[in-house]
Amino acid sequence: MPSYIVGNWKMQLSDQDSSALAKEVARLWSAQAASRPQVRAVVCPSHLALRAVGEVLRGTNVALGAQDCFWEEKGAFTGEVSPKALKELGCEYCIVGHSERRQYLGETDEMANRKILALLKQGLTPILCVGETREERDAGRRDAVVIGQVRAALKDVALVGTQRLIVAYEPRWAIGTGMPCSPDDAASMHQLINDTLAEMFAPDVAERQIAVVYGGSVDPKNIASYLAVPIIQGALIGGASLKAPDFAAMCEAASEPAK
Ligand code: PGA
Repeated sequence: MPSYIVGNWKMQLSDQDSSALAKEVARLWSAQAASRPQVRAVVCPSHLALRAVGEVLRGTNVALGAQDCFWEEKGAFTGEVSPKALKELGCEYCIVGHSERRQYLGETDEMANRKILALLKQGLTPILCVGETREERDAGRRDAVVIGQVRAALKDVALVGTQRLIVAYEPRWAIGTGMPCSPDDAASMHQLINDTLAEMFAPDVAERQIAVVYGGSVDPKNIASYLAVPIIQGALIGGASLKAPDFAAMCEAASEPAK
């Protein structure tokens, strides 16, 4: 199982800036990637920039991901984008259930579940985001919230053949705040997620086809402390993924011998 370093560019960049960043990331990382097959670098631009970024990344060692999708293949769903359309643009990954979508757009675990099933059907790898709010943590509900999100979003999900899944533990209070969850704390949440997955999937599937990564204020300075924990299999990175040298440095950190 590789270490996944995933950049979530959110709604931060224009089409042109996205292409320029992708070019720079591919240039910096491609020089090293061939000798570091254990790292999988993924960038997730806005839907509008997917085609242009996909063209820039074709034939490079950086994979393309989307930030969201709809669960139907086609039809009268104004404003939505299907997994099939994402696949046609070259996407291999898609973020699902990000906390910003949960917070601002009312995305639920049930919606995330439908998206995951639709993505797997098209052969894309879903990146499911889970994580508690500060209030839930303070109220002692952290574990129950995260277990509930994993169980509901992965209901009826069976990974067959080469299908893969990434679960990102992203405590909401750590996202974009510069206040990351401590590596110890993240490690115990990863263990909890692994235990939940072990109840839902056969042991070989959970081990070989599902990766659990950490997200929330990860940067080039702190990433090594997360990746030093064997059960943290990568990172989902927002703000710090917007600078190509930083992103390349974080990919490099994931390829250190300890991993
Ligand atoms: P951040 O965002 O790295 O800026 O905290 C992470 C995310 O939203 O996935």
